[in-house]
Amino acid sequence: MKILIIGSGGREHAIAKKILASPKVTEVFCAKGNPGMLNDGIQTLAIEEDNHPALIEFAKENQIEWTFVGPEVPLLNGIVDDFQAADLKIFGPNKAAAMIEGSKEFAKQIMLENQIPTAAYEVFTDFDQAQAYIKKIGTPIVIKADGLAAGKGVVVAQDEQEALSALDEMLNQNRFGESGAKVVIEEFLAGEEFSLLSFVRNNDVYPMVIAQDHKPAFEGNKGPNTGGMGAYSPVPQISESIITEAVENVVRPAVNGMVQNGTPFSGILYAGLIATSDGPKVIEFNARFGDPETQVVLPRLASDLAEVIDDLLHEKEPKINWYDFASVGFVLAADGYPGDYQKGMPVPTFGDENVNIFYAGVSDSDGLKANGGRVLVVEANGENISDAQQKVYKALEKTNTDGYFFRKDIGDKGRNK
Ligand code: AMP
Ligand code: GLY
Repeated sequence: MKILIIGSGGREHAIAKKILASPKVTEVFCAKGNPGMLNDGIQTLAIEEDNHPALIEFAKENQIEWTFVGPEVPLLNGIVDDFQAADLKIFGPNKAAAMIEGSKEFAKQIMLENQIPTAAYEVFTDFDQAQAYIKKIGTPIVIKADGLAAGKGVVVAQDEQEALSALDEMLNQNRFGESGAKVVIEEFLAGEEFSLLSFVRNNDVYPMVIAQDHKPAFEGNKGPNTGGMGAYSPVPQISESIITEAVENVVRPAVNGMVQNGTPFSGILYAGLIATSDGPKVIEFNARFGDPETQVVLPRLASDLAEVIDDLLHEKEPKINWYDFASVGFVLAADGYPGDYQKGMPVPTFGDENVNIFYAGVSDSDGLKANGGRVLVVEANGENISDAQQKVYKALEKTNTDGYFFRKDIGDKGRNK
């Protein structure tokens, strides 16, 4: 089989690598991909993600068996609808179903209709009304831009001043453009966070092993929120019974609710959850694999990913098994990220067979150069989390990382549990 993957980041690198490992797959093309992927035999295509006609033409001319969509933007642009209209197989939610990620308001509506536990919230477009609400509810409180803001449109405000300045940036100063014209103000949920991803086909749900992301830029969860600075799996401090509760009380009702609503979901459904003292509650749904969670979840998949997707696309029951080992992934980011950051530094080389490198923000001009905030993920597997961490530390110690930074505490909370 020849497979096409849409996207260009570390998540897509991990997906492409796993799919290419299948004995049934001969070639994997990634549009646009990145030059770091070439090291793993993945081919890259100079076609833009939003050029659906060119992607469809490529898929037809090259006998692509099916296409897999990595990021949310193409999903919300209706790439699945367009491929299906052209009679091509593609795995991911259509535009209507991807709204579970595209609009927090839509997601909250699904949760309300299906009694899915989530934080209490209100939606505002007017600054004065929003300000009055914040004063009434008190802090800590969470302010979110409605719509896509690449994971950065969320502020967990510890005090009123921080809350009001976030609100001012979103509503008055248009910091997030259109996606900040409407804000969701949400109750702060206290507890351990985890990401539960599932393969979904209409009413069928196949949960994956869980992971934990680290959103803030710096160690000890300090600094601004980023797209994610690292992840690990399993998350030993989240018990099996909490995971079961999350599948039964969150994922299944959401998926069934979407079928009943006339917007059935097929693809990867990501539930971002907090294990509160009242059980798991939703902070967000995404309509795709998480980044960097994918880089630690897929290495633990013992089954053939290409076969799993192929079975899902052909109405068959997929076989899904997981390895027991732990996986930890550290993001190497350019100094300054998530603010203004430098580009063009040489990308470190590792040459350490105990780690996998998943490339993201890299370009090729006389060797790999940094051209994004999150440049790569260094991932290792181990018997437990500390074991996997040690392998990542060793690989990073041997490498010159001038011009870059990473968090050293990725996975610490799951150690020795
Ligand atoms: P999101 O983009 O919605 O995942 O939010 C980014 C980060 O903000 C999450 O990973 C959480 O750490 C935090 N967060 C979001 N919503 C809440 C909430 N209601 N309570 C506590 N923390 C939250
Ligand atoms: N890691 C969070 C996300 O992919 O949205």
